[in-house]
Parts: sequence; structure tokens; C-alpha cells
Amino acid sequence: MDAYKKRALITGVTGQDGAFLAKLLLEKNYEVFGVVRRISTPNFWRLNHLGILDKITLVSADLTDVPSLSEAIRRTNPDEIYNMAAQSFVGSSFDQPIHSALTNGLGVLNIIEIVRNLKESVKIYLASTSELYGDSINLDGVQNEETPFKPNSPYALSKLYSHELARIYRKAYGMFVSAGILFNHESELRGLEFVTRKITNSVAKIKFGLQDELRLGNLEAKRDWGYAPDYMEVVWQILQYHKPDDFVIATNENHSVREFVEEAFKIAGLDWKLYVRVHAQHKRPYEVPYLKGDYSKAKRELGWKPKTSFKELVKLMVESDLNRWDNHLKGKIFSWDAPNHSENLNYLYRAKDL
Ligand code: NAP
Ligand code: GDD
Repeated sequence: MDAYKKRALITGVTGQDGAFLAKLLLEKNYEVFGVVRRISTPNFWRLNHLGILDKITLVSADLTDVPSLSEAIRRTNPDEIYNMAAQSFVGSSFDQPIHSALTNGLGVLNIIEIVRNLKESVKIYLASTSELYGDSINLDGVQNEETPFKPNSPYALSKLYSHELARIYRKAYGMFVSAGILFNHESELRGLEFVTRKITNSVAKIKFGLQDELRLGNLEAKRDWGYAPDYMEVVWQILQYHKPDDFVIATNENHSVREFVEEAFKIAGLDWKLYVRVHAQHKRPYEVPYLKGDYSKAKRELGWKPKTSFKELVKLMVESDLNRWDNHLKGKIFSWDAPNHSENLNYLYRAKDL
């Protein structure tokens, strides 16, 4: 008889984390379902790049659309739900605060309430964030699970709402709802609007003469940057822990945007001062100046620690973008571009058809 395959439902499977997590869970022999919402141009490039588009079942739903979400959860009947879906760009949350609140706040409430009504035993992972801290820092210069939250953006506030839901539903109903307070994590599959990928993609384009300058905002902000696949390993571990809990996931090291810029241009053999310009347009109305995470609880309780250093991270991202643009200029298709979008839609199911 075949061993029971655990079933995982991932929301945000077309995003950076959801895609890496889907790959990891497939390697762990899970049956993987992914929630995909309707957008005008299907967004399967990460799943294509990782070679897993035909290995997972995609279900059409939206976090803010209860009937579709409820049907997706009911039909896929998961043991574990990983909620990676969000309006995740802090800058956009100032432009679209209500959309951010609906998706990141009420969208999460929708998931938890559906599970409470359907099958309380389903384990739920929530993607909390270091943005919750705003400019709150411990005396020793780090943030951990005890540091007070002081959100500085509509994004962070929406995430505080969902973070507190985890605590409330554990206490009120004994539900298994865990939250990873993840500090920034990046990769070759990071969205192009986030500062790290914006830099590495621009470095590659400048190197090949396709771009003249790189416009950035605040160069002095400090972030604790890790590598996304390292972090998805511990996301899984958090749901295997014996009880629902909160964990800070970070590297305990931080660097400024300026340092990231210097390192990225150096790898490509370029002098950053010739190309980088600061523009007010890219500055936030209210900034989070400093993030540095103390992950000692995750190390102690889960035996986890990050594997990829800052320099390794910058190098792998720059090399990936150099390689991608080099291939493009040689007339080869971007390895992660979908060959045919409409073909890919064949993988998308309505929950009722499962
Ligand atoms: P991402 O690349 O922006 O992916 C976000 C995903 O959410 C995409 O798949 C997106 O779908 C989906 N989504 C957005 N709104 C939705 C809705 N209403 N219904 C269904 N799906 C929706 O983000 P990420 O970097 O992978 O981050 C994953 C999660 O971790 C997010 O919750 C983020 O806030 C949180 N987080 C990220 C970091 C980080 O450094 N990466 C750190 C801390 C916490 P489309 O493809 O259709 O847009
Ligand atoms: N995006 C962007 N673009 N950021 C810039 C730029 C620019 O041109 N110039 C400077 N920055 C600064 C931002 O002001 C911020 O201080 C820092 O670079 C990092 O910005 P992002 O890469 O956009 O990430 P974030 O820290 O705001 O948010 C990310 O990490 C959070 C966890 O701390 C996102 O992934 C969030 O979803 C996540 O919760």
C-alpha cells in the first residue's frame, strides 16, 4: 500500500516564496496544491523556472473572495495551509492601502475562519514580517520575538492584524496557527521592484550597455537579508513543531542598501558611483531604517540556521541576472519566461472540478 502523502495548500504559489516552498514540499513527497488568482497576464515564470508547473495542482481562488477560497480549501482538503499570498510590496501599500489591508488582513481572517468552520485540525502557517517592528529595536540592537511591534506602513499594519489573529485563534479555539516573523529574504526569483533584485538586474543591464543609470531611494536603510530557499526550509519546520508558535527567522547580520549596491557593482567589475542616482520618487513616506533579527529561538527549538552569507547572496543574484541577459542577447529565450502563457492555463482548475 502507498504511504499517505501529506497534502499542502499554498497561497501565493506564483510568488517568490510560494514557488520555492512548493518545490521543497514536492521534494518532501507532499501532494501540493497552489492557489492562483485571475490576473490579465498569467504569472507562472517562477514555477516554470523551477520545473514544477506540471507537478502541482493549481486552483483558482482569491484571498478576498470567500466562495472561491472556501471551495479551494474544501476540495483540496489539506493537512497544512501555507499562506504566502499578500500585497507584499511596502511601497505600494502607501499607494493602495485598502487593497493591502483587504488582502493581508481580512484575506487571512477568511482563511482561518474557513478552516475553523470546515476542519479545525488543519495546520496554518502565516507569513509575518520584520516590518512589524518599524523602528522598534532592543537595547542590544536586534529584534526578536519579545520586541514590541510598531508598524510604519499600511503593509506592516495589515500584517500586524493577521499576526495577532494567530495568537487569538490559538487561545480561543486551540487552532494550530503559527507565524514566521521573516526578515527580508531574496533570490534570483525575487520580484524586480524589490531593492535587491532591482539592483542586480540593473547591474546586468548596465554591464551589457542596456541601461545608463540606476535610480534608487534611501541608500542608508539597513536590512537583514537572507536567501529565500534557506528560509522556506524553516517555514516547513515551523509547522512540524510540536505546538503552534511564533519564530523570528533572520541572519543576525545587516547591511545598508549602499553596501548591497557596492558589492553588486563590484562583482560585475563596475564603479557604482558612475551609475547610481538618488531620487526622491523612490523614497518611502515613512521608512523602516534598521532591521536585524535575532533567530536564537529558531536555532534552539528547530535547530535551524541560515546557510547563505550576504556576499554569497549578492553574488548568486548578480550572476543569475548577468546570465539571463547574456542569454537574451544571444537570442536565447529567458530560461524562466513562460513559452506560452495560454498553454499554461491548462494547469489551472476550478475547485469544483477537482
Ligand atoms: P510575492 O513574490 O510578492 O508573492 C505574493 C503572492 O501573493 C503572489 O503569488 C501573488 O499572486 C499572491 N497574491 C497577492 N494577492 C492575492 C490575493 N488577493 N489572492 C490570492 N493571491 C494573492 O511575495 P514573497 O516575497 O513571495 O512573500 C511571500 C509572503 O511572505 C508574503 O505574505 C509577504 O508579505 C511575506 N514576507 C516576505 C518577505 C520577503 O522578504 N520576501 C519577508 C517577510 C514576509 P500574483 O502572482 O497573482 O500577483
Ligand atoms: N524597493 C525599493 N526600491 N526600495 C528601495 C529603493 C528602491 O528604489 N531605494 C532604497 N530602497 C530601500 C527601501 O526604502 C527599504 O528601506 C529597503 O530599500 C528595502 O526595500 P524593499 O526591497 O522594497 O523591501 P522592504 O524591506 O520594504 O520589504 C520587504 O521585506 C519585508 C520584510 O522586512 C518585502 O519583501 C516585504 O514583503 C517584507 O515583509
